[in-house]
Amino acid sequence: MSQDNQSQQARHVAIIMDGNGRWAQARGLPRLAGHRQGVEAVRKVVEACPDLGIEQLTLFAFSTENWKRSTEEVSGLMGLFRRYMAREAERLLREDVRLRFVGSRDRLPADIVSMMDSMEERSADKSGFTLNVALNYGGRDEIARATRAIARKVATGEIDADSISEDMISGHLDWGGIGDPCLIIRTSGEYRISNFLLWQGAYSEYEFVDTQWPDFTPEILSGILDRFGSRERRFGAAVG
Ligand code: FPP
Repeated sequence: MSQDNQSQQARHVAIIMDGNGRWAQARGLPRLAGHRQGVEAVRKVVEACPDLGIEQLTLFAFSTENWKRSTEEVSGLMGLFRRYMAREAERLLREDVRLRFVGSRDRLPADIVSMMDSMEERSADKSGFTLNVALNYGGRDEIARATRAIARKVATGEIDADSISEDMISGHLDWGGIGDPCLIIRTSGEYRISNFLLWQGAYSEYEFVDTQWPDFTPEILSGILDRFGSRERRFGAAVG
């Protein structure tokens, strides 16, 4: 799985982990069984990232739209996040992983928010690899929150409306200085971005794979990285 021969390395990869429900349904299992298996895929992929040359991985774990799912599924997912953080915290810290959360904390259960705060604080000085988890995240919601924050500063005279720049908007997003992902992957054969990283994905490369998230493996990720390595990224410039 070495990336030595690549012409370019995807250092920041983001993933829309889709297909857990269909994976479970195809096996006659409840949807939550698919999410549970999805956590196993998360564990394996996170562990493989440093060897694949990935410095940051951003996972879309729960969207602002996912609250529309059944109470049973939403509380089941919250339970999985709780368990993931409780079980993986020490191992992630030992492995020099920095954990960050993006998204609105407003509707999330208080105990989950305090686990998120604690993990962010405890891992703030880790430099091996960064795992960003998008929880209660929506790209439009993030841009709206950033806009409100900037508008408040304009209202108090802290900033001038004419000085609002792309960099200033970026700086008010949840990502702060995290940077834009080079590559955004979506599993399960759907060709949508579903409100994920609307601002940050402006120049990202996209890869859509048919595999359902619970079946996604580091080997599949390695194959995607090889394809990314041979793509030419021009950021709007002319060929040649
Ligand atoms: C989309 O599949 C997946 C989700 C809404 C949840 C993703 C969450 C996990 C993989 C759990 C663990 C995450 C972390 C970071 C510990 P879907 O249910 O929409 O699938 P479907 O389209 O087949 O119904």
